[in-house]
Amino acid sequence: MTAKTYAILNYGCQMNESDAEHYAGQLQELGYKAAEDFHDADVVVVNTCCVRESAEKRILGKIGELKGVKANHPGQIVCVAGCMAQKDGGKLIKKHPQIDLLIGTAHVNGFKEILAEYLSEKGERVYNSLEVKESEFEGERIRQSGFSAWIPIMYGCNNFCTYCIVPYVRGRERSRSIENIVDEVRQAVAKGYKEFTLLGQNVNSYGKDFGVKDQFAKLLRRVNEIPGVERIRYMTSHPRDMHEDVIKAVAECEHICENFHIPFQSGSNKILKAMNRGYTREKYLELVAMIRRYVPEAAITTDIIVGFPGETEADFNDTLNLVKEVGFDAAFTFIYSKRSGTPAAAMEEQVPLEIKKARLNLLMEAQNISSLQRNEVLVGKTLEVLAEGPSNNNNKVWSGRTRTNKLVLWPVEGRDFELGDKVQVQIETAQTWLLKGKAVE
Ligand code: SAH
Ligand code: SF4
Ligand code: F3S
Repeated sequence: MTAKTYAILNYGCQMNESDAEHYAGQLQELGYKAAEDFHDADVVVVNTCCVRESAEKRILGKIGELKGVKANHPGQIVCVAGCMAQKDGGKLIKKHPQIDLLIGTAHVNGFKEILAEYLSEKGERVYNSLEVKESEFEGERIRQSGFSAWIPIMYGCNNFCTYCIVPYVRGRERSRSIENIVDEVRQAVAKGYKEFTLLGQNVNSYGKDFGVKDQFAKLLRRVNEIPGVERIRYMTSHPRDMHEDVIKAVAECEHICENFHIPFQSGSNKILKAMNRGYTREKYLELVAMIRRYVPEAAITTDIIVGFPGETEADFNDTLNLVKEVGFDAAFTFIYSKRSGTPAAAMEEQVPLEIKKARLNLLMEAQNISSLQRNEVLVGKTLEVLAEGPSNNNNKVWSGRTRTNKLVLWPVEGRDFELGDKVQVQIETAQTWLLKGKAVE
């Protein structure tokens, strides 16, 4: 008998990628093998995101497509998991009879049992309570990368930024214990993993739910001491909760990478207040200055939203000027998307789409100039790069990332490189998104 197969169609952020690895791990524990093509899979998991309307639209299209796919594959089990399942599960299951199971965000750990029960016809179809409190990870993950591992350190978010749906679909903050995290890192090191990205919606408030402060810097230092850990990354930081202790840990610990991703969202104090972000433009600039003081070579990256309700030309210019003033290495820029149920969706003065698009273009232009400038400074320098494999299947060129998370390409020139090798690359040319150089030594 041939083994049953599964496919996972994943959308959204790194937390979803990590959850998808856990779904894969549990499916393999149940004896399923990865399908080559989702059309033929016995179990399809669609792991969804609802952070912006554009994401939802794409995913709804995929769920619709699965109706036809399932018709050609009787008995196929379609599971819709993740944030959209949590938000709109009831509606989805009514509208799309091809959905067998809905798995809310608090049930990832229990998926194996849920699926087994469903197959024995004893289980229910909808698992969307956010009441499940367990936050410790058990079991296996089937990781996508061979050298770089996602490690969730906390789930949920307590911040309620007024534009954001995440706290409603991921529930309140639950931190994993330091021991549980360290165990997972150790096991991954034993399997050859070298780079570890600690994940949470607001990693700087890690451990607050245990009633202790400043746990994140402590956790970083603990992970830094685990033998075999080469690089540590973390995301996402919240400017309000990021303090000197974390910056100092980055400056002092050998393995923590010099890359600070600190979303500022808007450069206008009026808009920051309306967003409920809890800091001002001035505080943000102080934070940037502190980072530059402790870690001068650090790359600083950010997320920005344009067109939040009430954003005037002057507010937008505050954002544009902040981008120019800080000189970010990269920025993820988003057009504000109305999420029903969030306070901002009910605010008056929604900004017309045309204006939002024009502002996004201006912002991206400014950021591209800054990205290029930040990269050009690196020409002539030799940087440590962790090798990620051939670039775009071109065996003659390899790619990897610097400690500051910049993508680097270099020609192989007859040498042998392996996944996860540390390579010294001398940078020869800089582009907006990319550095090119040659391997030295
Ligand atoms: N917890 C992280 C990531 C949240 S989602 C953080 O706080 O940074 C990633 C990014 O999506 C956010 O930083 C924000 O810039 C953007 N985002 C969230 N909700 C949005 C919305 N309704 N419209 C547009 N962008 C949004
Ligand atoms: Fe959303 Fe704000 Fe929480 Fe980030 S910190 S997930 S933007 S509510
Ligand atoms: Fe999307 Fe949920 Fe992540 S809404 S961004 S998948 S937390």
